[in-house]
Amino acid sequence: MPTFVVKTFGCQFNELYSASVTEMLERAGYEQSRTLDRVSLVVINTCAVREKAQEKAFSFLGEAATAVDASRIVFMGCSATLDQERAKRIAGHEVHIIPGSAGIEEVLARVQAIAACAPAEPMVPHSLFPTADIELVRGCESYCTYCIVPRARGRETAVDAEVVLRQAKDSIQHGFRELLLLGQNINRYHWSGGGLIELLSALDRLDGEFWFWFLSPHPAYFQRAEVQRLMQLEHVEHHVHLPLQSGSDGILKRMNRRYSMADYDALAGAVRSDSRWTLTTDIIVGFPGETDEDFEATVAAVRRHQFDGVFLAKYSDRPGTPASAMPDKVPQKTIDERHSVLLQVVRDLSLQSNAAMIGGSVDVLVLTAGASGDTFGKSRDGRNVWFEDQGRLSHPVGSFVRVDINHGSREGLYGICST
Ligand code: SAH
Ligand code: SF4
Ligand code: F3S
Repeated sequence: MPTFVVKTFGCQFNELYSASVTEMLERAGYEQSRTLDRVSLVVINTCAVREKAQEKAFSFLGEAATAVDASRIVFMGCSATLDQERAKRIAGHEVHIIPGSAGIEEVLARVQAIAACAPAEPMVPHSLFPTADIELVRGCESYCTYCIVPRARGRETAVDAEVVLRQAKDSIQHGFRELLLLGQNINRYHWSGGGLIELLSALDRLDGEFWFWFLSPHPAYFQRAEVQRLMQLEHVEHHVHLPLQSGSDGILKRMNRRYSMADYDALAGAVRSDSRWTLTTDIIVGFPGETDEDFEATVAAVRRHQFDGVFLAKYSDRPGTPASAMPDKVPQKTIDERHSVLLQVVRDLSLQSNAAMIGGSVDVLVLTAGASGDTFGKSRDGRNVWFEDQGRLSHPVGSFVRVDINHGSREGLYGICST
């Protein structure tokens, strides 16, 4: 039986595309292998958002190239758009390159041809049960000055609402319990019925027991009234991930983020008006020209909003982006110091947020079921939850349960199932 390895770096888009490729290969009779040894096909789905992610992918390519012939390697995703020559130098000219700008249909068609597998029937859904990831917007044209995604992923296009609604309906009918809607700047979604909120409202009216969530909204393209409408929907998870990037207006401007701290505060305030909702964010420290005052403004903003979670990144120079040509690069040592200062603040806030849940109970979607009675899921407000089923109840993946919380850490909540 032919075997394959799929190695995935990067964001939810790559996870979705890799899951689709995996499903297609399995349907065609391929078996997933744990090692590169004698494998028939290696698929490497790459990310270029930071240097570290990029280097990991190239290093795995090097490893794969020593184990199998280049003609059995597929190098896809963002680094495949940006650095094809390097991939060929490492693996040899025979390596198959599928750029990150290719949509899922093209990716599947190309892998199908390379793997010489028979056309599979149309697959719905393409995701990891019980979460169905659904693309709303492909590519990105927001051009934040630090970001490589617009170059790597290409033009922005909205997927037809008809397709989205059909995928959502099929997913729910197949037993999927969470719809995760994707777009690098998802507020750019548009269709004949309006924008993102109108589409989410249409999804909300579908029959069935499910939650939905979306990534990533962009503060410059999200209106306060839209946040308020979102928060009225029945199936929405009680959680907004709203990337801030910096708390300094000067830096936000040079990042080309197109909003001020005051605009951000207005949106965040709408989310915070309901204490059941959580608010998380992304922050970059050490953007070119970031002064101590700019950094302090970011720390102050993080404290003020008491984010429930922060994905903290050190600025990484991406060749070809406007920021990489900016003067006043922050020394790596300063970036490291600022990162560790803010990391401590962020960790304290996460702990505080989770500790505040002790003694209460939360609705949880089961994501993995442990053999020993330890089960893992996510709460409706987006927290990790580990719980015991008291050894007598069984909660399969995809079930909704209620968990009484008796402990909270930086990473999440712990408790006992009470349903
Ligand atoms: N489209 C999403 C996220 C894209 S990338 C958004 O706009 O929010 C995910 C995160 O990686 C970004 O939010 C940003 O915080 C971080 N990031 C992107 N480019 C980076 C760079 N050059 N250096 C460090 N972090 C970066
Ligand atoms: Fe990058 Fe900005 Fe687009 Fe997000 S919105 S992917 S940060 S350019
Ligand atoms: Fe990385 Fe490309 Fe996603 S750069 S974050 S894999 S869009």
